[in-house]
Amino acid sequence: MPAEPQDAETTKPQRVVLGVAGGIAAYKAAELCRALIQRGFAVQVVMTAAAEEFIRPLTFAALTGRKVITGLFSSSSSEDTLSSAVEHIGVAQENDLLVVAPATADLLARFAHGLADDFLSTMYLAFTGPVVLAPAMNTNMWLHAATQANLEVLRARRHRIVEPEDGFLACGMVGPGRLADPEVIADAVAAELNRRRDLEGEVVLITAGPTQEPLDPVRFLSNRSSGKMGYALAAAAAERGARVILVSGPVQLPAPRNVKVVPVRTANEMRTEVFENLDSATIVIKAAAVADFHLANVPHQKIKKTAARLSLELDPTPDILAELGRNKRDFLLIGFAAETENLEGEAKRKLETKNCDMIVGNLVGGDDVGFESDQNEVALALRTGEFLKLPRASKRELADEILDHALNLRQGLSSKAHGR
Ligand code: C5P
Repeated sequence: MPAEPQDAETTKPQRVVLGVAGGIAAYKAAELCRALIQRGFAVQVVMTAAAEEFIRPLTFAALTGRKVITGLFSSSSSEDTLSSAVEHIGVAQENDLLVVAPATADLLARFAHGLADDFLSTMYLAFTGPVVLAPAMNTNMWLHAATQANLEVLRARRHRIVEPEDGFLACGMVGPGRLADPEVIADAVAAELNRRRDLEGEVVLITAGPTQEPLDPVRFLSNRSSGKMGYALAAAAAERGARVILVSGPVQLPAPRNVKVVPVRTANEMRTEVFENLDSATIVIKAAAVADFHLANVPHQKIKKTAARLSLELDPTPDILAELGRNKRDFLLIGFAAETENLEGEAKRKLETKNCDMIVGNLVGGDDVGFESDQNEVALALRTGEFLKLPRASKRELADEILDHALNLRQGLSSKAHGR
């Protein structure tokens, strides 16, 4: 008997919405439905109108023991119109994951563009959990630039795409487009739900955003950091079950869910809060763009405008990351390096000099990635000597990858330690 996947806080089985779109492979969704139930998931099936042309809702109702949702307003015929009209919100809130198999070219396009013209596409927009898509279609439709562009959009939203297999297709062609094996899709669903709790028991201390170093009561020195990378890391770590403390410089971002935000302004304040909150930390990530210089004695009055040149003598701020490196205990220490050139050399140098386990390096100064952007292109310098260039992706997606590498690194480090 497979172990029942359980919700973290309760003993309820995890709930999965299985969306079925209208393709010839729709009949295989019944097999997937059974594979999900066998893994202990509670499954709610939602079918598009086209899917009903290929397989009857009754098949899924018999497998799941639940009413199948088939249309935007038809699902609750016995209930009042209002509950029927908002049912897609309820389904979105109650479920832990959405998997669509088969995901047709049309379904991918509708999801990518945010259309909301039936229950499944409307519920998708209201859903905030992980999404797994298993496409199936004719080879040329799969390879078409439009479908591939839509897939790029969906990947950037961190949806997991279970790639179709190569093989004989119903249309007579041979090539990619056949729905992946239902067991493979069910494994992807299980992995996606498990992966998200793999930081349970960890305490992750993250710094984010710029710091502001006052020059007088109304002016300050700062930088272009938006805080988005650090906030994405905090959101990802919290979703994966970690207790997260986010020491944040001034940013225009909402606090991520289930994250304790400690607002600070200056490098000195950030240093104080980092060391205050360091005790139980198991992973420390310094994503903040800390100002390197500050005015040690800030005048109490506004500096007057004069015709003369103004010189300010700046002192270095405390290097919090280097200090953490010098006082390193058994937490993983991850720093960032924003560089305009020689990324590999600088990242590796900082890894050594600041005694880190990982430096996340990114080239800044370009127009569309790095500071302020939702996308980023980073490379990881690891304690193991590796230098890994990650493909350009959304900051939220990169956050998960950085956390994956951190966990791998710790397993590697501790297995070496055990081997001694
Ligand atoms: O040496 P550099 O400032 O380029 O290193 C960047 C890394 O050091 C980042 O992780 C940043 O958060 C951290 N840092 C710090 N304190 C400073 C300056 C940078 O912790 N005063």
